[in-house]
Amino acid sequence: MKKIIELLQEKLEKAFLECGYEKEYGKVIESNRPDLSEFQCDGALSAAKKYKKAPFIIAEEVVQKCKDCEEFEKIEVIKPGFINIDISKSFLTKYCNDIIEEEKFGCIMDKNKTVVVDYGGPNIAKPLHVGHLRPAIIGESIKRIHKFFDNKVIGDVHLGDWGLQMGLVIEELKCRHPEWDYFKEDFEGEYPKEALFTVADLEEIYPCASSKTKVGENATEEEIRKAEEYKENARKNTAYLQKKKKGYYDLWKKIVEISIKDLKENYKKLDVDFDLWLGESDAQDYVEPMVKKMQDLGIIYESDGAMVVDVEEPSDKTTINPCMVLKSGGVSCYQTTDLATIMQRQIDFNPDEIIYVVDKRQELHFIQVFRCARKSEIIDKDAELIFLGFGTMNGKDGKPFKTRNGGVMRLEKLIDEVNQKVYEKMDSSKEMTEDEKLEISKIVGLAALKYADLSNQISKDYIFDIDKFTSLEGKTGPYILYTLVRIKSILNKFYENNNISENKVLEPMENIEKELLLKISKYNQTLEESYLENAPYRICNYLYELADIFNTYYQKVKILQGNPDRLNSNIVLLSLIKRIFENGINLLGFNAPDRM
Ligand code: ARG
Repeated sequence: MKKIIELLQEKLEKAFLECGYEKEYGKVIESNRPDLSEFQCDGALSAAKKYKKAPFIIAEEVVQKCKDCEEFEKIEVIKPGFINIDISKSFLTKYCNDIIEEEKFGCIMDKNKTVVVDYGGPNIAKPLHVGHLRPAIIGESIKRIHKFFDNKVIGDVHLGDWGLQMGLVIEELKCRHPEWDYFKEDFEGEYPKEALFTVADLEEIYPCASSKTKVGENATEEEIRKAEEYKENARKNTAYLQKKKKGYYDLWKKIVEISIKDLKENYKKLDVDFDLWLGESDAQDYVEPMVKKMQDLGIIYESDGAMVVDVEEPSDKTTINPCMVLKSGGVSCYQTTDLATIMQRQIDFNPDEIIYVVDKRQELHFIQVFRCARKSEIIDKDAELIFLGFGTMNGKDGKPFKTRNGGVMRLEKLIDEVNQKVYEKMDSSKEMTEDEKLEISKIVGLAALKYADLSNQISKDYIFDIDKFTSLEGKTGPYILYTLVRIKSILNKFYENNNISENKVLEPMENIEKELLLKISKYNQTLEESYLENAPYRICNYLYELADIFNTYYQKVKILQGNPDRLNSNIVLLSLIKRIFENGINLLGFNAPDRM
């Protein structure tokens, strides 16, 4: 379906043409003075320069041509030459009735692209912390929006499972349990089926191992030597692992297995799920053919023992260092696995797009990787590589969010705190069982968390303010849900003893009704924009504005008890709004309770 603004614009373009001007001047935009009109066209002002005529005259000519168009209720010229437009009620109503018949609100679907979304990016053996919240929330929404537009979308968690942190965990396990079969050189038997450690053990082990590689300012020589040795061993373990050495590789598989199980449970709490649970390690088999390709192209060379590819371009304003494809000793690093993963995705999916939802501080890494991937032709030249860098979630002090005692907050803890806050704010006058209350506070808590994140532009930092996010008023998830629940309960009440006769809305009587229809008529445009710009915040803004208009309508119009001739239409209107809210929150990644 054409967007409502496009239909208005077509009329204006035609009028400009008929008056002897280029049609480009007929561009229609939303009014920047909503108190004066709903839409506007400023084309006469620019046309005036080109045609050396007063803008007012041009605008008058154009408006004369539009006077009888059914689309306009009002079209008038305001000095010096703005054209102000109000849409006609009949046209608007017809448009909304057409939307009712459309499964996807009249959005135009894309041409079935294959899109890989790389998001989540948790690291094995480390707990999920607040830093993993944004990629999970944003990635999930981007994935759902792309699916809505009929693309084949593959969400990949891209686990961090192949780097030095794995070598460190193995080193610490080896120090604690040198007797394990995994570390016996000539072991021939079977390794234990059940893991010899739990996720909680691993979560304690990684920071412990990591701290052993660091020394304080006043460290003795002996302490420095020990830390170096420990680090060197971890490096060796990483190299063994990447060569899939027996024992080391088997131990690693167990670590990955139990970590993934735990991660899956945690992501489930966020209602985030992945189609693929691959990790950096899965790309290892592509490293060799990839390097070979780079050698054949003559673009890779040795530098300080490492293998690198130049990626600087003449237009760069800052130095872009060569992309390190392999570390010395042929060890894979972060760039290696990202490059090999691109090759793997190309072979497995031949994607049109790969979207990376990653901390914006990693931008340089991705500039290097993308350029290197293009130069080495491991990705189809028409495929797009998109870096969607997100900003930091800060505390009220404007610094990266921390726990009260300055540590990194675990994601589970954060979710619990939000749910608790929602629980405390729940209306105690409502009759509810304790279980129901807890269930509802989880649903609303997740909405609070996700909406707060997604309502910001992805690249911006934002301040995590639990009180604000969980409020029932203002631009929050709970406010959106509250509105939707209100609509649902009105509809339920109606459907208890009635049914609708026809699925159509009548022309609006009150201004607020027209405002509501106008907002509804723009939902398809909002969805298309949020899709094309990878901008879920547009959906957030839209839902908030729709909720506000609806709540005013609710105050002014007697929906069930008013004019009986309008009852059917009111119900159809509410059902459509409900559909929009449900679709919108689903694309943002959360649900609504039946009551709250
Ligand atoms: N594991 C990485 C980290 O913790 C994030 C991974 C992002 N995705 C990627 N393809 N590099 O920083």
